Amino acid sequence: MTNKSLKDISLPIQTELEKFEELFKRSMKSDVKLVDLIARYIIRQKGKKIRPLLVLLAAKVAGGITERTYRGAILVELLHTATLVHDDVVDNADKRRGFWSINKVFKNKVAVLMGDYLLSRGLLIAVEGKDYDFLEVITNTVKRMSEGELLQIRKTRKLDIDEPTYFRIISDKTASLLETCCKIGALSASSDNRYHETMREFGEKIGIAFQIRDDILDYDGNTSTTGKPIGGDIKEKKITLPLIYSLNQVSKNEASEIRRLIKDGEKKESVKEIINFVRKNNGINYANETALSYSAKAKELLDIFPDSPGKLALQTLVDFVIDRKN
Ligand code: IPE
Ligand code: MG
Ligand code: MG
Repeated sequence: MTNKSLKDISLPIQTELEKFEELFKRSMKSDVKLVDLIARYIIRQKGKKIRPLLVLLAAKVAGGITERTYRGAILVELLHTATLVHDDVVDNADKRRGFWSINKVFKNKVAVLMGDYLLSRGLLIAVEGKDYDFLEVITNTVKRMSEGELLQIRKTRKLDIDEPTYFRIISDKTASLLETCCKIGALSASSDNRYHETMREFGEKIGIAFQIRDDILDYDGNTSTTGKPIGGDIKEKKITLPLIYSLNQVSKNEASEIRRLIKDGEKKESVKEIINFVRKNNGINYANETALSYSAKAKELLDIFPDSPGKLALQTLVDFVIDRKN
């Protein structure tokens, strides 16, 4: 197992990433002071930038980074940022990336409108660049992300989620965007459909592994590295893979007992008990193994591309995604 950081992974595209950062900052500029203020607040937070990294690396591996690649990278990071700003409203979350959430600092209505602003800025960049192929994939992604979140809300109310439904949810709400990042990277670099499709599938696998890891961190993470409190999903009654697996390991009676605790999820004690239940029943190990199998599939897909520093970086990014602490 490698223990590389995102810094190491970014090395082959250092200058390209710097150019991206500059363009990304510029993309949010507005003559409305409040928009600029929030934009600066967002820029200070320094997300991991995994999605633009995927666009740039996919392009590099599929033929080479072009001007279009940058527009794609900005588009996906703007969309991602928009969904995070909206997500914190939806989840009523106080913290994000170790900072107070936008909804906490500026109120819900400001956060909702700012999210819309970021999304439309992204779409505009693609329109102005006449990147209609990007628009086709990205609008479908926005649709899938909303569907995934809505399906999750429905399942949250009923507490009846099974593994196939879990995979449908994470594939739509998270993997769809990582899929799109890799496909957009390939679209910007090559006209070979086989490259587009392989990169899309690579993004899908890495995306599923990414969300499983995210769900594990809710049980096993460290608040000081994740920037958000542990057990947040449980409090929101979100049943994710570690818990789904654990519930399937025990008797009907014990499972209903745990479901009762989930309904009581606002209580600190219930959250603690659920985390212990999942640990005891190997839910975290199972989720880890599942993420590992998706990451192995992702790496296999890269076989069709010739070896290069960019390909090595993508392979290392796969390892990072399942080992990450934030
Ligand atoms: C968080 O994405 C949202 C999901 C897990 C879908 P990231 O973990 O990439 O967030 P940042 O951008 O690094 O904060
Ligand atoms: Mg959410
Ligand atoms: Mg989470």
